Amino acid sequence: MLKIAVIGGDGTGPEVAQEGLKVLEAISRSENFEFETRDFDFGGERYLKTGEILPEGALDELRQFDAILLGAIGHPDVEPGVLEKGLLLQTRFELDLYINLRPVKLYAGVDCPLKDKGPDEIDFVIVRENTEDLYVGSGGFAHKNTTNEVATQLMVSTYEGVERCVRYAFELTRARNKRKHLTLVAKTNVLTYAHDLWWRVFNDVAKEFPDVETDYNHVDACCMWMVKNPEYYDVIVTTNMFGDIITDLGAMIQGGMGIAAGGNIRPGEVSMFEPIGGSAPKYTGKNVINPLAAIAALAMLLDHCGQKKAAQRVEDAVAKVAGDLDSLSAGRMGASTTEVGDRVVDSL
Ligand code: IPM
Ligand code: MN
Repeated sequence: MLKIAVIGGDGTGPEVAQEGLKVLEAISRSENFEFETRDFDFGGERYLKTGEILPEGALDELRQFDAILLGAIGHPDVEPGVLEKGLLLQTRFELDLYINLRPVKLYAGVDCPLKDKGPDEIDFVIVRENTEDLYVGSGGFAHKNTTNEVATQLMVSTYEGVERCVRYAFELTRARNKRKHLTLVAKTNVLTYAHDLWWRVFNDVAKEFPDVETDYNHVDACCMWMVKNPEYYDVIVTTNMFGDIITDLGAMIQGGMGIAAGGNIRPGEVSMFEPIGGSAPKYTGKNVINPLAAIAALAMLLDHCGQKKAAQRVEDAVAKVAGDLDSLSAGRMGASTTEVGDRVVDSL
């Protein structure tokens, strides 16, 4: 029995999560596996009502599940950062979901903003470290609110944190078995401590994977190549902050936020899957948001939980529906949110 916690969250989050569950219902029947879900009402509304983001014991409850499906976090009436840190980052950190896995794959028939690039050129995976770096929230102010103010924010890398991420990326590159090409993306020419550690660990772990070809790009050059020659990439491994930035670029070249999904993963343990896009408040309740990213996140969730065939069938259905839509953007799909969910079910 697959146990799934559902955090619909804010804005359009619940609507897209609902379509994910619709597809889960259908694929579980077809593939003959059982599941149960439980809804958690964490998010902006609850916070505004109760002042609580993650209630006492919530993380321990979440640990009892096989996986978490997350809709979106971010509420227009809540100050930026509060829910992001209190819910999303807190869950990533406390459940130690140390990998943020973000595939960048352009499906046939989907519009790509890059000239002369198609599905053959855009098919890679970004492995973003998910528990360290500038995200640890270490830092402070001195002389706050004076013209002498000093603000610091510490970039933190540990040997263990880097090693487990790099190792995951090597294993993934090998298992993916495409070009077996792994690129470290960092900024070793400037971040001569933190990224020196990344560089050394990357090269040490590489010795255990002689079948994987290794490569290195500075992050600024990576942004250039992702636009100019995305076919250059098979798997990228990078830091939390750089990964945050380049995965939005990745989402755009694969057709936009409507299709981009990601997994916050701790191998073999409860992990959390989400569409990369935000809560899109202005589209809330209008039945116009694209649910494909959430459904693609469900496919990743199923894969994580060992339902490989179900995962592949859901991904294939997402690919087919994506290629047939007028556009992947909210309100311009030529179909409603629920219709898109139905089409995925029909295409399974
Ligand atoms: C993401 C988001 C988050 C991040 C924010 C909402 C904290 O941008 O998942 O990429 O920076 O990781
Ligand atoms: Mn981001």
